[in-house]
Amino acid sequence: MLNDKTIALTEQFVKNFLSGDCSGHDWWHIERVRKMTKKIAVEEGADLFICEMAALLHDVADEKLNVTEEIGINRVKEWLNYVSLDEDCIERIMDIIENMSFKGGGVPPMKTLEGKIVQDADRLDAIGAIGIARTFAYSGAKGQLIYDPSIPVRENMTKEEYRKNKTTAINHFYEKLLKLEGLMNTQSGKRLAKKRQMIMEEFLENFFEEWNGQK
Ligand code: ADP
Ligand code: NI
Repeated sequence: MLNDKTIALTEQFVKNFLSGDCSGHDWWHIERVRKMTKKIAVEEGADLFICEMAALLHDVADEKLNVTEEIGINRVKEWLNYVSLDEDCIERIMDIIENMSFKGGGVPPMKTLEGKIVQDADRLDAIGAIGIARTFAYSGAKGQLIYDPSIPVRENMTKEEYRKNKTTAINHFYEKLLKLEGLMNTQSGKRLAKKRQMIMEEFLENFFEEWNGQK
């Protein structure tokens, strides 16, 4: 099958799978990650097909959208077989998908340039103005408060604690989002993250000034 056809079919598959999600994994998240992935891939000289396929599929295996992570990973594998990709491509894409999630921070680093790029693009979509919007959308969907000074920011949490314990939208910036700039893999990613970090810092500064009635 031609690469363009494979991409078009995969786009449709992902759209169907994610339709109706409001935990921050809607199709437009995928579309933004795909665009950013392509931009960085050109700058960094990576394999565009592998990058775009992995960007499209990166959330299909997410444990939040599947009964188990294993079922999610098999779902992606079956799709790649269905569109008749060769073994080498399947392996390269699966390696990216299996290592994508943040999960409290304990995941080994991405091995390939393509993996580093998709991970950077996904992280960029969690920060900056879009990141702020997604955080509050996710919090609303999960019934979390905007902020509660009596709920402490959690440090060094395990994967289970990260998922289960109570937090707030504002705490999420300190537990995860402000750390992402330091985790960027590529030069392009680092450059783009810098601007987005400043946007979040400025937002938080204003948030607390307003919270405290200072302005
Ligand atoms: P993870 O990388 O931990 O799997 P996701 O990328 O699936 O998290 O999260 C989807 C979106 O929801 C992201 O924008 C993320 O920052 C946001 N989000 C995740 N967990 C929380 C939380 N506990 N509170 C607020 N926003 C969250
Ligand atoms: Ni994602």
